Amino acid sequence: MKQTQISLDKTAGAVRFGNITLAPGASLAPMAGATDTSMRRLCARFGANMTVSEMVSAKALTLGDKKSPLLMAGGGGGAPFGIQLFGHEPDVMAEAAARLAGGEYRVPFDFIDINMGCPAPKITGPGAGSALLRDPKRAEDIARAVCRAAGVVPVTVKLRIGWDEDTLTGAEVAKRCEAAGVALLTVHGRTRREQYEPGIHPDEIAKIKAAVSVPVLANGDVTGAEGALELLRRTGCDGVAVGRGAMGNPWLFAQIAAAMRGEPIPAPPTLAERFSVLREHIRAMCDDKGERVAMCEARTHAAWYMRGLRGAASLRRACCAMTTFLDLEDVIALAYEYQAHQPSDSSSSVIE
Ligand SMILES: Cc1cc2nc3c(=O)[nH]c(=O)nc-3n(C[C@H](O)[C@H](O)[C@H](O)COP(=O)(O)O)c2cc1C
Repeated sequence: MKQTQISLDKTAGAVRFGNITLAPGASLAPMAGATDTSMRRLCARFGANMTVSEMVSAKALTLGDKKSPLLMAGGGGGAPFGIQLFGHEPDVMAEAAARLAGGEYRVPFDFIDINMGCPAPKITGPGAGSALLRDPKRAEDIARAVCRAAGVVPVTVKLRIGWDEDTLTGAEVAKRCEAAGVALLTVHGRTRREQYEPGIHPDEIAKIKAAVSVPVLANGDVTGAEGALELLRRTGCDGVAVGRGAMGNPWLFAQIAAAMRGEPIPAPPTLAERFSVLREHIRAMCDDKGERVAMCEARTHAAWYMRGLRGAASLRRACCAMTTFLDLEDVIALAYEYQAHQPSDSSSSVIE
């Protein structure tokens, strides 16, 4: 199969923060409802150089909530793994960080990430997530309190470029976080108002990168190796973080890593490989969460694996009707049926 090679102006180096070293490549951005243990493990195996948990409420943790530890369990699949906390009260965030760092939840992790990007009203309403971009002083207080409480555990922050186009506070918040002791930043190149579209603003990410000395990962809309290199070029960042692009496409990590090393990009998976990994992914979810819960969540994942295939709309509908692990085989059989009608020159699967 044809391999392509694209290159950066300079060879990408390893990214170091705290006691952690990330090989050149892409990290898995945190996604509530998606980056559970099974997805983290899978992405790490396919070359993600770092993974982060779904966001966890610091308040819920400190109140002894039983479900929160499940979001953090299972580690990062061998790649450096961060637990992401959200909250608006420095003392509560600090208490959660101290308990984590003290080993209270008995979960393996390598660093603590602070959420300063979530746009959901239930998070921003009390002042957490991206609402911290409207209150840089509070963002700094939280970062400082968490860094102090975490001790030797590195602390990172994931932020957006600002609250809206009139409040582009990303660089200010980034500088304050750096002064507070934060070791790495991941910047989603949109404001809170923009949520997840339209496109990102690489120039604003570049301003944030230029404002600090700690490593910065650029994030937003990366779906291929070329796009990753383009984002690195335009922002000067040290690496990229990938969210939705990795859904149903863990192969992306090896492709980006190869491109960053200046090596030929591995070919996309065949249809058989794609479905084999899909089966493995959903099986792992069933093992981790039980079939009933897992199969509800698996519908979205399975639909992503169908992206770009002939009959994708019908296949997505079939995914949404799955209730048991066995139903997945019917969906896969249907997918093969659709592809059988494809012209022979495009019979191998290509994920855009
Ligand atoms: C379903 C979903 C859940 C998300 N959950 C989180 C989260 O828990 N914490 C966080 O910092 N960002 C979260 N994000 C934002 C992503 O990490 C990422 O910044 C954003 O999707 C843009 O990157 P992408 O274009 O590569 O997906 C979420 C995004 C999506 C689509």
